[in-house]
Amino acid sequence: MAKTFIITGGSNGIGKETARIIASRHPEAKVIITGRSKETVNKACLNLQPLKNIEGYALELTDFASIKQFADVINTNVASGNWVLASIVHNAGMQLSSFERTAIGIEKTFHANHIGTFYLNKLILDALKKQVEDPSTPCRMIIVSSDTHDPKAKTGVPPPVFEDPRELTYIGREGFSKMTDSLLAYSSSKLCNVLYTYKLAQQLPAGLTVNAFNPSLVPGTGLTREHNIFIRGIASTILPLISSSLGGSTLARSCGGLADLMDSPTYDGVTAKYVDITQIKSSSDWSYDEHRQNLLWDLSEEIVTKHAG
Ligand SMILES: NC(=O)c1ccc[n+]([C@@H]2O[C@H](COP(=O)([O-])OP(=O)(O)OC[C@H]3O[C@@H](n4cnc5c(N)ncnc54)[C@H](OP(=O)(O)O)[C@@H]3O)[C@@H](O)[C@H]2O)c1
Repeated sequence: MAKTFIITGGSNGIGKETARIIASRHPEAKVIITGRSKETVNKACLNLQPLKNIEGYALELTDFASIKQFADVINTNVASGNWVLASIVHNAGMQLSSFERTAIGIEKTFHANHIGTFYLNKLILDALKKQVEDPSTPCRMIIVSSDTHDPKAKTGVPPPVFEDPRELTYIGREGFSKMTDSLLAYSSSKLCNVLYTYKLAQQLPAGLTVNAFNPSLVPGTGLTREHNIFIRGIASTILPLISSSLGGSTLARSCGGLADLMDSPTYDGVTAKYVDITQIKSSSDWSYDEHRQNLLWDLSEEIVTKHAG
């Protein structure tokens, strides 16, 4: 029976550094990380050596079969008592530079950053509810969002659109021409992360908490990898130098904050909150709108029921 921490998207950037911190803090525990492929996650595990308590799995959030496979691993290990899940961080996420659809025809950022997480949680929720029936084995869920979800944060990324969440799927839309459109898809998907967190929290039993996390601007990760060489160049050279003047953070600070949210007694029983690196803060006005929360929930159910079976 091993105390276990799961971090999706732990093969790079924020997820990988957080895995390093958690695995070092808890040498007796198991730390599970995922990457889009076996290759990326295996490379990360090698890179995280000499830490021996990190295991990697493939998880592609735009592929329902891949999600089901990973959920089966979680369910089997939790049900057998092999893993006692202390926390699961839904951190995996992407930002695109142009419009792309996934195999089921929906916009890829929305699919990866929200629908994939929604489906993974749907598949593992029963196992987690069962685990927390024993008050000695609570579990924390964390959904990694971003301050780009909040127009008031003035991040430079266009603020989300969210009147009808069907807009987010961009079904039937011909295609994007401007880069800002893909950034808008990104900020909107990050609003979905917070709307979903608050709605999910209402349905969880005592012992199972869920909070949204904002790492703030963290230069030097792979988030801009899909952009052109010019944007990537700015992100890797100039942004780290000016990040603090833009209200940004560092990998060490943000990942330390995320690791605390995973394991610190400070957050015992805390649920339905938005944690900005180390502090509980208000999220955007829209994120508290129950009408938008319900619209998103219903659309997500509809998509997974139709396409994932
Ligand atoms: N960096 C920032 O400034 C910043 C600010 C606010 C919020 N965030 C959020 O922080 C999270 C981590 O971002 P990061 O900056 O660390 O980016 P990153 O370095 O690009 O890492 C992204 C991680 O997610 C995985 N991933 C990407 N697309 C995926 C998909 N379709 N299915 C499954 N896994 C996928 C990647 O796997 P592979 O290695 O296999 O590609 C990688 O492990 C994201 O949710 C992002 O929105 C970042």
